[in-house]
Amino acid sequence: MNKRSELMKIANSIKIILPIFFITIANVLATETISEFPTPLHVPAQTCAACHKNIYAQWKASMHSRSAPGQDPVVSAIYQEMVGSPEQEGLRLSGEYPACLKCHAPNAAKEQKTKLDQFNYAEGVNCVTCHVLERFHGMQDKQGQQLYGLDAYQVSATHLQGPSGRYLSPREDAQHPFPIKPNPGMLRTSQVCLGCHGAYKNADGVALYQTGEEYLAGGENQATCQSCHMPKTNGETNHEIMAAHNDAVLTRAIVINLSPELKQESIQLKIDLRNTMPHRFPTGSPFRQAYLKVTAYAEDGELVWSNYSNYPPDFSQSPEAVFAYQLADKNGKPVMAYQASQVQKDTRFQAFEKRQLHYSLPRDKVYLIRTELLYHMLTQDVITAHGEKFSGNLINPAVAAINEIKIAK
Ligand code: HEC
Ligand code: HEC
Ligand code: HEC
Ligand code: HEC
Ligand code: HEC
Repeated sequence: MNKRSELMKIANSIKIILPIFFITIANVLATETISEFPTPLHVPAQTCAACHKNIYAQWKASMHSRSAPGQDPVVSAIYQEMVGSPEQEGLRLSGEYPACLKCHAPNAAKEQKTKLDQFNYAEGVNCVTCHVLERFHGMQDKQGQQLYGLDAYQVSATHLQGPSGRYLSPREDAQHPFPIKPNPGMLRTSQVCLGCHGAYKNADGVALYQTGEEYLAGGENQATCQSCHMPKTNGETNHEIMAAHNDAVLTRAIVINLSPELKQESIQLKIDLRNTMPHRFPTGSPFRQAYLKVTAYAEDGELVWSNYSNYPPDFSQSPEAVFAYQLADKNGKPVMAYQASQVQKDTRFQAFEKRQLHYSLPRDKVYLIRTELLYHMLTQDVITAHGEKFSGNLINPAVAAINEIKIAK
């Protein structure tokens, strides 16, 4: 049975088992809009889950389902500090509606609400958020002002937008409980991501994330975001939209090659690193950072050489092996991203960048050389400031790449 007939079967059985759905469908038939809800933006993901079970489970496991303040611990801690409680109405940031919500809780932003424990607002970026995006205005308006999240799109108040190119209309052929307009130009291209993943600048104009700009710098003829982040599995678009939170995806980003040259007294080690992605590594959140740990061992496993003497390391011992976005205040003192006034140093890999590192190791005793690219979700200052709220991979590094080589006697 193919995917389509499988879905149709589920849809039909739901009509029989759940009369409530039948009523909903009848309503929709009458008006050709998502009439049970005053606006499609209020439709909870659970409604779609009735038929799109797998997609719902994947979305539920994604960061998008946790993007609203009050869900993910990192976003919640920083939003609470900068803006206030996600249960309060009328919050302002620098006198304006908090821009955060245009990307983090877009269904609430559409209605300028800050009390997120109502309707589907706490679901963050949910099914209807992406599936009502009708047209992309670009990441900036005509005056060059950055457009954040939903402001970058024209949003449909009546129709879901579909990728396949078919018009699914409850009235015309009872194919779908909600009317769906064909819109492959939006759903099958990176436009559906760029509005929220473009630059967000803090009050001092420092860009905190800018995956969209990093990607567009490489021109338009590139693999779409979906081709990597929404692979087709079992004939369906995977909605988990995985990245650094998933080791299987994280480990695809960087390739390491080792070329040791054996001298009389030393080993001259050349390390080639290559970013295979069309955006930076790390990209996105300014809290992400990575560093290359280089170690050499004797045959009995004894550690005989390392580029850092301790772990977690003092980065000043081997600064060339740190890949991070380092932000500072006016006086050049390191600060948390949201308070930063300047970029002190940006040593992250550019899109597709190749970089070479060189080390001189002692020849004596060395049997195995190991390189590990360690990836931290959060910088140490964020952990120190909000530490008790975080656990697991938020505090412990993941291995983003590894390569080792044995040295001939
Ligand atoms: C971050 C944006 C985003 C969110 C959130 C999202 N979708 Fe999608 N969805 C897409 C994109 C993009 C495609 C098309 C991908 C392609 O074909 O390249 C898609 C495709 C689909 C399809 C077509 C079938 C398929 O497998 O391709 C269905 C059905 C669907 N989504 C349902 C849902 C449901 C149900 C939810 C909520 C549980 C949801 N989507 C949440 C972006 C999103
Ligand atoms: C009663 C069952 C049912 C519910 C509820 C439902 N869908 Fe669907 N959906 C289907 C079926 C069946 C198809 C496939 C139709 C086909 O392939 O002919 C489909 C297809 C789609 C597609 C693909 C459109 C295209 O371009 O081909 C999208 C997107 C989609 N649904 C989104 C949603 C969203 C979002 C919700 C919740 C607001 C939702 N659906 C709720 C049954 C349902
Ligand atoms: C309506 C705004 C919006 C749209 C549209 C959107 N995103 Fe996101 N996305 C977010 C927000 C906000 C987060 C941060 C979630 C968090 O950290 O709590 C996020 C998180 C992510 C992450 C995970 C980052 C992590 O920390 O692991 C990836 C990957 C991602 N998005 C990719 C995509 C792709 C690919 C698309 C297009 C198919 C897309 N997004 C569309 C707002 C959006
Ligand atoms: C060639 C495959 C590829 C393409 C195309 C791609 N990415 Fe990625 N992306 C990755 C990999 C692999 C990672 C994991 C490594 C990392 O987090 O830096 C990643 C990481 C991310 C993250 C960081 C997640 C985090 O946890 O901090 C975001 C956000 C993201 N991508 C968004 C996008 C968007 C938006 C697009 C399109 C404009 C896109 N990506 C295009 C492969 C890709
Ligand atoms: C233009 C859209 C947009 C705006 C505006 C925005 N964000 Fe984000 N935010 C994102 C995206 C997309 C990510 C995911 C980047 C990633 O993880 O790679 C993110 C990530 C984050 C993270 C990091 C999460 C982590 O896991 O490291 C925090 C914290 C955060 N946002 C808080 C805020 C706050 C607070 C505001 C308002 C002051 C705000 N954001 C405004 C889109 C936005």
